[in-house]
Formats: sequence, C-alpha cells, structure tokens
Amino acid sequence: MKAVVVECDYQNPQVERLIEPAKSLASGGIVVFPTETVYGIGANAFDGEACGRIFRTKGRPADNPLIVHVSGIDMARSVCDLDDRWVPKLVKFWPGPLTVVVKSSPSVSAEARAGLETVAVRSPSSPVARALIDLSGVPVAAPSANLSTRPSITDGDSAVRELGDLVDFIIVSGRSPFGIESTVIDLTSTPVRLLRAGSTSLEELEKVFGKIEVTDTAKGIGEDARPLTPGSKYRHYSPVRPLYLVSRNQVISIGNDDRFSNYLFLCSDEVAAKIRNQSFRLGSETDLDGVARNLYYAFRELDQRNVRGGFITMFSGKGMGLALENRIRKATSPVPPAISSMIEELSN
Ligand code: TXA
Ligand code: MG
Repeated sequence: MKAVVVECDYQNPQVERLIEPAKSLASGGIVVFPTETVYGIGANAFDGEACGRIFRTKGRPADNPLIVHVSGIDMARSVCDLDDRWVPKLVKFWPGPLTVVVKSSPSVSAEARAGLETVAVRSPSSPVARALIDLSGVPVAAPSANLSTRPSITDGDSAVRELGDLVDFIIVSGRSPFGIESTVIDLTSTPVRLLRAGSTSLEELEKVFGKIEVTDTAKGIGEDARPLTPGSKYRHYSPVRPLYLVSRNQVISIGNDDRFSNYLFLCSDEVAAKIRNQSFRLGSETDLDGVARNLYYAFRELDQRNVRGGFITMFSGKGMGLALENRIRKATSPVPPAISSMIEELSN
C-alpha cells in the first residue's frame, strides 16, 4: 500500500485537504498526523480491528496501550469515566501535551487499551490534529508514529520515509513544535502519579494537581517487570546506530581527537563551538525547550549519516529537563570498554 501524502499548514490547516483522511479514519483507515509533541499514527478508538492494525504496523507489543486523542472534555466523556473534580484542572492544560490515565468506558476497543480497565486520554493542541478529530467525529487512538523501539517522529519527511508504505494517509506539516511526547499522569491513584515525563512540566502540573509522585519509571530508572505504564518496559526512542552518553568534559576531549572523526557528536551549541569533529547542534544549554525540539530529530540524523555511532551529553533541570533526561537515558547504550579506555587515556 502506498500512503496518500497530504501537505497541510500546521497553524491554519487547509480543512478541505483533511476531508479524505478524516473519512478514512472514521471507516477503519490508519492516518499519520502531526500533533504538537510528535507525529501520531491514528485509528478510530472504537474500532478494534483498525487499532489492531496500528500494533501490527508498528511492531508494537500487544500489551502496550494507545493514547486516545479527543477534541475536549465532551468527547473525553465518551471514552472514559471522568470525575467532575478533574475537569477544572484538566482545562488548564487542555488542549495541550498532557495525557491522563482514567477509568475507561467500555466503548473504547480492548485493542486500544490493551485489555486494561483504564485508558490514556489527551486533547492535542495541534490545529491539524484538532481539525482531523472534528471532521472524523471519532476519538483517535494514536501512539507515536515511529516503528516500535525507534525514536518518535518529529518531521514529515521521516514519517513518509518510515511509514510511507504502511498506512492510508500521511499528513505532513513540518517540524513538531515540542518534539517530545506528552506527559502522562495517573488520575486513578492518590496522590496523582507521574508515569512518563514529557512536554508539560512537573512544576506546572504540581501547581494545579498538588504534590505528584514521581515514579522511577518516569525518571527512566528501575525497569521493574510489571511497570505502572506498560510502555516503559520496552526499549525505546533509540537510533539504530549506537549512541553513548558521556560527560561534557569527555565530549570536549574526544570531540577534538581524530580517532573519533567518524562519530557524530550531539551536543549543545556551546560545546559544538569547542570541538572539531562533526557535531549536530541541539541548541543552547540555556534553552531546554529548544534541545527537546531537536532531540529525536538528531537521533534520526545520526542514523542518516555515514558514521559509526554518536556521543551525547546529559541535559537535565527544571521544565523539559526531566523528560530530556529520561529520553537520553533510554536512547543510549553503555560505552564499550575499548572506547572507555581511549576516553580515560585522554583525560589523563
Ligand atoms: O505526545 C504523545 O503522547 C504522542 C502523540 C502522538 O500524542 N503519543 C505517544 O504515544 O507518545 P505512545 O504510544 O508512544 O505512548 C503512550 C504511553 C505508553 O508509554 C503507554 O504505555 C502509556 O502511554 N499508556 C497508555 N495507556 C495507558 C494506561 N491505561 N495506563 C498506563 N499507561 C498507559
Ligand atoms: Mg512511542
């Protein structure tokens, strides 16, 4: 199957171009579309067969549920049991990159929620996603539009390259504004728990929801066998080429060593200015939002370039810091002994 590729302006979508994709969604089709975080691969959440196709297309483990995208509170009520006390809090973040886990209504296909009693719901702010949901008239179950284990897709070209032969429509609207997935919180527990750090910061959430319990899963550590959020136990967000996590000082030394000229250095603008080997600039150290916007794009760039692998440094801090830290941990592999002895030798 060859997907129909539809170009659409992100801010002011040409609604007429979304009519066919929306019809396809409503009648069992699979549509890739831009959200404000990353691109999603969507199907009608009520249609178990169509949702099943998403799992097969991505190679996604059947026990990892999808996020259901809705136009707002009213549509959310058609897919879950939403306690009234959450509504004034939710509307402070919706539409936007916040996903909440709540009790599912039986109408959501068992495939979409991977057989769980709960469902993950969010109302995206992307004007294209909103128009698509409105036109199709159905809630759209959509995980990130990458093949399973690969980095999420944050630009249209990568969507066409990776999924062009696998879905019905791909709506292309340039680079994703946030670049990292939505934050996932669990509203079925007291206190509210953070299941996945993401594009809505913990600090902003705590102002509205009170103290939030940050699970190890959300920090990217402690991969227990029965994690709170099924997705966390799988390998994630990884480039195909090896990517190694090193310190800022180490990058500056190996980034100027000829033995590492066939590696790509994913680093801040400030570090890139100090090294000679090839680098991909993630943005300024003082702008974590900018780094988030470029992170997955850089992972994909690493796979496109003719290099042996890559090096990256940690980014952490408030706001986007927690999500960045989690994604970088998950995408990187331990430095092999041969490389670490070279690094050590350089630091002596
Ligand atoms: O920004 C985003 O959230 C993007 C865009 C497309 O909206 N979507 C996305 O979906 O990142 P995905 O499938 O890559 O991640 C969904 C996460 C997974 O970690 C999954 O395990 C978790 O949400 N999840 C879904 N339903 C859940 C549930 N009922 N309980 C706990 N975790 C759930
Ligand atoms: Mg994903």
